[in-house]
Amino acid sequence: KMNKFLDELMSKMTLQEKIGQLNLVTAGEAVTGSVVSTGVEKKIAEGKIGGIFSLSTPEKTRRAQEIAMKQSRLKIPIIFGMDVIHGYRTTFPIPLGLAASWDLNLIEQTARIAAKEATADGIQWAFSPMVDISRDARWGRISEGSGEDPYLGGLIAAAMVRGLQSNDLRAKDAMLACVKHFALYGAAESGRDYNTTDMSLHRMYNEYFPPYKAAIDAGVGSVMVSFNDINGVPASANKWLLTDVLRKDWGFGGLVVSDYTGINELVDHGLGDLKQVSQLSLNAGMDMDMVGEGFLTTLEQSLKEGKVTQERIDAACRAVLEAKYKLGLFDNPFKNTDSERAKTDIYIAEHLKKAREAATKSFVLLKNENQTLPLKKQGKVAVIGPLANTGSNMPGTWSVSADHANTPSLVEGMRESLGNNVEIITHIGSNLLEDAAYQERATMFGRTIPRDERDEKTIIAEAIEAAKDADVIVAALGEASEMSGESSSRVDIGIPAVQQRLLKELVATGKPVVLVLFAGRPMTIAEESETVPAILNVWFGGSETGKAVADVLFGDVNPSGKLPASFPKHVGQLPLYYAHKNTGRPLPKGQWFEKFRSNYLDVDNDPLYPFGYGLSYTKFDYAQPTASATSMKFGEKLNVEVQVSNNGNWDGEEVVQLYIRDLVGSITRPVKELKKFEKVLIKKGETKTIAFEITEEDLKFFNNNLEWIAEEGEFELFVGSNSRDTQSLKFTLEK
Ligand code: IFM
Repeated sequence: KMNKFLDELMSKMTLQEKIGQLNLVTAGEAVTGSVVSTGVEKKIAEGKIGGIFSLSTPEKTRRAQEIAMKQSRLKIPIIFGMDVIHGYRTTFPIPLGLAASWDLNLIEQTARIAAKEATADGIQWAFSPMVDISRDARWGRISEGSGEDPYLGGLIAAAMVRGLQSNDLRAKDAMLACVKHFALYGAAESGRDYNTTDMSLHRMYNEYFPPYKAAIDAGVGSVMVSFNDINGVPASANKWLLTDVLRKDWGFGGLVVSDYTGINELVDHGLGDLKQVSQLSLNAGMDMDMVGEGFLTTLEQSLKEGKVTQERIDAACRAVLEAKYKLGLFDNPFKNTDSERAKTDIYIAEHLKKAREAATKSFVLLKNENQTLPLKKQGKVAVIGPLANTGSNMPGTWSVSADHANTPSLVEGMRESLGNNVEIITHIGSNLLEDAAYQERATMFGRTIPRDERDEKTIIAEAIEAAKDADVIVAALGEASEMSGESSSRVDIGIPAVQQRLLKELVATGKPVVLVLFAGRPMTIAEESETVPAILNVWFGGSETGKAVADVLFGDVNPSGKLPASFPKHVGQLPLYYAHKNTGRPLPKGQWFEKFRSNYLDVDNDPLYPFGYGLSYTKFDYAQPTASATSMKFGEKLNVEVQVSNNGNWDGEEVVQLYIRDLVGSITRPVKELKKFEKVLIKKGETKTIAFEITEEDLKFFNNNLEWIAEEGEFELFVGSNSRDTQSLKFTLEK
């Protein structure tokens, strides 16, 4: 039916109208790039626009759609897009935080709610999920993805696609998802945004491609192409990537869209002028041109010159029309312009409840000496620090549709949650950053953090004085939300120095100090982890951050988050990841330096907090894992079991993790790879047996010929509560 409908429609379309469908413009409501589209309404009427993004509300999108439906010759509906990344008006934790929940159902539910809200506000296309693997915390956009691991990242990618698209794209609350940024954007050299990527093929296939592939296997409707250069050919012009891998090998049949002016940027990459690069990009497999209008302004001439084919233009146009068709827009172009739904479905109590739950599950307890936490719901708590009283920072980066101005701050949320049980006193303590210009760069897009221009010592002294009667100090420190995200890479990923000086003074009071760490990335907190008794990493928790922090600090919720990316001891260790190779000169076990071994003179190789790490208020003990056999044949299964006991005083959720090492391979293999995990609730005093099934599929990898195979030989299997603290057994795979 679709094919017949589109054949007929396309037979009526002029070349210009077809090229018009390839044009995606921004209404500029949310600033996500440096150029803004012009003459949008006129272009819609002329059939020169296929989609618009960063335009919201039923009223505004209806107006734009009416122009398309009443004034354009063929009345082809517009598709409306937006960066719906971790929530919409209701915001959930940043994606790196959501990943720390290791809770796929929860993540899917957050995406479902985001889709409900966005579709009620006029939008049908989410530029999400962002699935770029990143192992370099300097890169600001590590905050937007699921961290360092391809397996966890793949499962989350699929959950996000399911949540956004739901079962039926024609439903009013379903959105077309867009997996991004294809590909390898998170491996930018030196963690600098938009930088070059140069990578071996087996690393691409084994370590960086899996989450994109998982999204495609989950049925994602569109793919956004990344800005970066890949082995000498920028993704936006990379035919191998966009056609051979994506369409031919992976069988992707949906819509491929550029990133913001990504095609134009090929000029700066040095591939030619706008006409040339637009040809290159279309021929590589790009369907839609975001904002740059290279397609709109040059493809007609390129076709005349025989540089692009009618067939390719038709295929691109068809991809855009198919997306609209699948969303049901030809039947009902106004399906998302119901003003009543906007009133009932956005920022409602049910969504906020889920946001609060998601936030509590994203927090990672990094340290809890002498059971400093949970706190008692009584007495006086001093909440000190530049991040204590700023609501606009709570939603985190890439929350373009959040109401930043009206989001409760940490202190407001805590006060609302705790009522009169606990007296909260508060003080800025220090500026976010000593350098005012840096602070300005770190608080863009309506994020505000008050500044106090008085002398630093005076401010700190005042904070200490304010805290003098408190029973406990909560230090609200770390990054502002715009210190991570796009174009927000940092070379120093520690807590800014001025805040560190405040923290020292707070610790010196002798009162118990809890560091509530706001972070859009793994941070270097080696010194703080020595001196501060309790550290709760809260990322950016979304709309309900304040209440969720109170829930965890005061014991209503037992923390269960686990790090989806390693926390380094020193920025110089980056890129740092648990699934590294052994090298030919590994360090002997337990040693941190030996001459002529792979190490540093000044810092050991280990992370400060490893991948998968996170504490609970309770205590989980693992028994030695057991397997059903010591060998398995190709096609057979191995059953692995482990008993986990909750020997503490709290019910708690634990993420039981299983890793495998392929001990001998035709190419070098990582020292450990996550293969399975299960998040389980174990009541205090209870022991649960967790069972995992290992199949040949779990032992496969891409070899040097890019064949997906398992090789016979010995494997080591590890089970534990993080990637470091594990117990192991060995087995063989035999013919
Ligand atoms: O979706 C984003 C992308 O992640 C970065 N550049 C701008 C796009 C649209 O806002």
